[in-house]
Parts: sequence; C-alpha cells; structure tokens
Amino acid sequence: MDSLDSVAETVLRRRYLRRDENGNVVETPAGMFRRVAETLAQAEGRFDGDVEATGRTFYEAMTALEFLPNSPTLMNAGTELEQLAACFVLPVEDSLESIFTALKQAALVHQSGGGTGFSFSNLRPEGDVVKKTGGVASGPVSFMRIFDAATEQIKQGGRRRGANMGVLDASHPDVEMFVTAKEGTGAFRNFNLSVATDAMFWEAYDAGEPYDLVNPRTDEVVGQADPDDVLDLAAETAWETGDPGLLFLDTINEHNPTPQLGRLEATNPCGEVPLLPYEACVLGSINLARHTDGEAVDWDKLRETVHMGVRFLDNAIVLSDFPVSEIEEMMTATRKLGLGVMGFHDMLVDLRIPYYSREAVEFAGELMSFIHDESWAASRQLADERGPFPAWEDSTRAEPMRNATTTTIAPTGTISLIAGCSASIEPIYNVAYTKQVMGGLEIVNDRFVDLAKERGFYAEELMAELHDRTSIQNVEEIPDDVKQLFHTAHDVPADGHLRVQAAFQEHVDNAVSKTVNLPRSASVEDVKDVFLTAREFGVKGITVFRSGARSEQVLGETPLQ
Ligand code: CDP
Repeated sequence: MDSLDSVAETVLRRRYLRRDENGNVVETPAGMFRRVAETLAQAEGRFDGDVEATGRTFYEAMTALEFLPNSPTLMNAGTELEQLAACFVLPVEDSLESIFTALKQAALVHQSGGGTGFSFSNLRPEGDVVKKTGGVASGPVSFMRIFDAATEQIKQGGRRRGANMGVLDASHPDVEMFVTAKEGTGAFRNFNLSVATDAMFWEAYDAGEPYDLVNPRTDEVVGQADPDDVLDLAAETAWETGDPGLLFLDTINEHNPTPQLGRLEATNPCGEVPLLPYEACVLGSINLARHTDGEAVDWDKLRETVHMGVRFLDNAIVLSDFPVSEIEEMMTATRKLGLGVMGFHDMLVDLRIPYYSREAVEFAGELMSFIHDESWAASRQLADERGPFPAWEDSTRAEPMRNATTTTIAPTGTISLIAGCSASIEPIYNVAYTKQVMGGLEIVNDRFVDLAKERGFYAEELMAELHDRTSIQNVEEIPDDVKQLFHTAHDVPADGHLRVQAAFQEHVDNAVSKTVNLPRSASVEDVKDVFLTAREFGVKGITVFRSGARSEQVLGETPLQ
C-alpha cells in the first residue's frame, strides 16, 4: 500500500488498529484495510457477485486513500462488534418508558461507535402535569441532561466520545430554555443542539407577528413567542457557545424520499443526515485530493470511485449488525447511504481555484452534480442486481433504486486525518499547525510545501513562522496568487462558507455538515444574519462557530481525548 504519513500512523495506532487482550496493537494499517475490504466483500456472495475481485477493489481504493468509510466500519468490520454505521436517530415519546428506552438504545449505539440524534419535541413541557404521580413534569431540557451524563460515561468502546444531536421544535413551550441550554460553562458538552423551524415560524417572522407555542401532550396553545426574539436569543447563545443551530424542517421534508414512513424531525450529531426514528446511515467519503492529475479532475477515476463507493456502502448495510432490532428493520427498509467527499480544498488548489471565489462555488455544483448522478446510476444498477430498497414502491423515487438516498457531506473529522487531506468541503485550518488531539498532531499542508518549493520561497524559517497562524494573508514572502489558494477557515467570510454549503446541498440527497466560521470580533447580529442568509439559500440546517466561542467543540474538530 502507499505509505501513510505519521499523522495517519498515529491516529490508526491509537484508535483503529486491533489490540489483544493486553492492549497491544496486533494489526498493521494494511492489515486493517485488508480486514475491512475482505469483510465488506463477503456481501457479494449473497448476490452471486465476485467476492475476491471486489475485495481487491475495496482494498486498493482504501490503501490508495481514494475512499474511506466512516470510522465505525474501519473499527468494527470483521470483528465481533460488526456495527458499521455512524449515524442514528432514535425516537423519544412523552413517557418515562420511552425516554429511558431511548437512553438505553443510545448507550448501545454509542458503545458501537455510532452517534445519535433525537427530537425532544414530543415531551410535555416543564411544569406540565404528570397524571400518574400527580407531580410536575421536568421538561425536555431536564431529560436531555440525563442523556448527556450517560454519554459522558460511555466512551464508544474507549475509542471516541459519543455524540448527540438534540432537536426541539420552535413551537415547543420550552423553546427558550432549550435555546439557552448551553449558556454558561460545561453544560451539554456531548450535545449539539438545533432548533427546528418550519413555515409557521417563518411566516410569523416575515409578518412580524408572534406564533403559537403548543403543548405536545394536549395539542393546546399555551402561549406565544416572537420569532424575532427566539432568533435573537439563538444568535446570542450561538455567539457564545456555537449552539444552537437551526434546522429548516420544510426544506428537509420536501426532500424526504419516503414520506409514507413518516416526517423527518431530527438529524444525526453533525447534521449531515436527517433520519426517521430508528433509521441509520453508513457514510463513506471520496478523497478528492486523489482524483486529480495535479491540474485537472480525473473524471473517469472519480466515476469509478463513486460506483465502488456505492457498492461498498450497500455491502456495509448487508453485513452490519445493529444493537437494536427496530434499527435493523428501518435500516433495511430504506437502505440509506451517505457517500460524500473530503479534500475539496486540496482539489481546488490543484485546479488553481481560490476557495473564496465564484468559480469555486460553480465548480462545487458541477462536481457534486456529477457525483450525485453517478451515485444514483450505481444505486439503480444495484437495484437491478439486488432489488430495490423495500420501501421503494411508495417512495418519491421514480425508478427502482437500491438506496433511498446515496449522498451526504460528512465532517470527516478523523478519516481526513487518515487520508491526509483537507476535511470534508471545509477550507483548510492553516498550512501548518498542531492539532490538539491525541497528544498533538503536526499537520502540514503538502500542497503548500510543494508550491513553495516550486516557486522558490520555501524556507524552514518561513514554515516555523507560519506554524499555528490562522491566516497567511499578511505574510510578505508568499506571492499573492499562492495566498489566494490557501484561504483558511478564518479568511473565508460567512457568505463564502454558506455559498459552498448551498452549492453542495443542491446536489446532495441528505444534508451537508458545514461550519460557518466567524471571526472572534463578530457580533450577535452577524450570527443572526448567517441564520437568515442560510434560510434564503435554502440549506437544510445551519451551524455557526465564532472563533474562540468555546474551548471545546463537540464535533467537527475531532473530539478525541
Ligand atoms: O471521520 P469520521 O468517520 O470518524 O467521522 P465524521 O465524518 O467526523 O463524523 C460523522 C458522524 O459520525 C457524525 O455526524 C456522528 O454521527 C458520528 N460521530 C460520533 O458519533 N462520535 C464522534 N466522536 C464522531 C463522529
């Protein structure tokens, strides 16, 4: 296999490679890829496919770092814990029985390496009656604390911390409490939060009128809220903590491929997959940095990788064990895949397109449209071979497909470190820095180093000077055209982040995990503006992160200890 850089070696040794009962690593990186490839190829045997040839193809794609599946697949394939999906949504109904069932199921999912999302909108509000005991209800935010505490104790098999997404509808009477839940320090460190908004909320906002707050237990209107106040409050807390974000439920449900099975009300922890209760999704990401010839996109190779990736992920669904039988049922009914990309910024550098440019946004659309169309073609082909997903007939998909969805843009927090590429569709963080995870990882942008050498301005001293800087824009030695190619997350203004997110979203079945970075000096009003622009751009959800807003991000920046 291609040699791995030292960051990849460290990440794999610390988190992924198999260990014996004494904790000694007993697997090489190549051995890990072989284990995953051979296991995933087994699924071919159930459909008269070629197990050996497929295993070789999977192995080659992973060892060439052209494609990597989500972490649970790398960790669990071919082991006793054959749970291969990263994303789950679990239902929480308005009863103690349901709340504690969800808590137990979440624990099992976390233990197997997956992340969980919940809508808490069905829980009766704080102070409401509890008939059985004549007592008063605690409300969603209070119950969420139990989920948070439980998550803290289960470290995903000791390899990574569990993660949750908590969603509450804007019409819930406790919406203010929810919106401000992260205020102060340390609360809900294992949760991302999103306020679910819909047409009713936005119509009221546009009209400058209040909207109704409804008790989900009785369906009674128990009060009103001013949508502008709710947005202000959300912007204020997000300015301080990075949460909450917003979900645009109507946009999400407009694209729900299986409305007959229910309405989408929650997403997985990073927001890239809206799922029905008990649905799961297996993710995989194509490393775009390995799909250029140094100057232009290698479209043929990209097509091949997309087709391989769809097969790989469908095989993962065939083989995956799920810790809860209801998940198994839903997963096999819709067979949702989340094929996405990483190394987008690296690819732009090869194409000499600055990240913050109209050209980049246009290219993002062209690229994702290609990947999307090819992934659907691949899924249709699989439907011919293996049959369509069982819920297909009443779905919105006109032609038989093997999978209700095929595409997603995940954060690729850890797998991009293994692949040695820029994360997901994000701009780079810096050209050289120490990433504060796993004892400190030294990340150096190879493309920058190569260009610096090619253009004759490379020097050890320069690299030392750039180390840990969040921007290279004021460094004199670097030519302007090179500076433009290495815009960092901090250089790109909010609208640049959002335009890239929207361009990808247009061609993605599920959703896009993207952080809109704002400088430390940004105001609460700036955060609110991003929320409003996100609505205008028609994305499915939005997360804003102001630099320095909180010391620890739940996700995005890999939350490894
Ligand atoms: O790079 P990797 O495959 O490890 O994960 P990612 O793309 O950063 O995150 C994808 C999804 O994995 C997240 O949206 C979560 O659903 C889940 N995840 C988790 O459960 N716990 C973590 N510590 C990280 C990710």
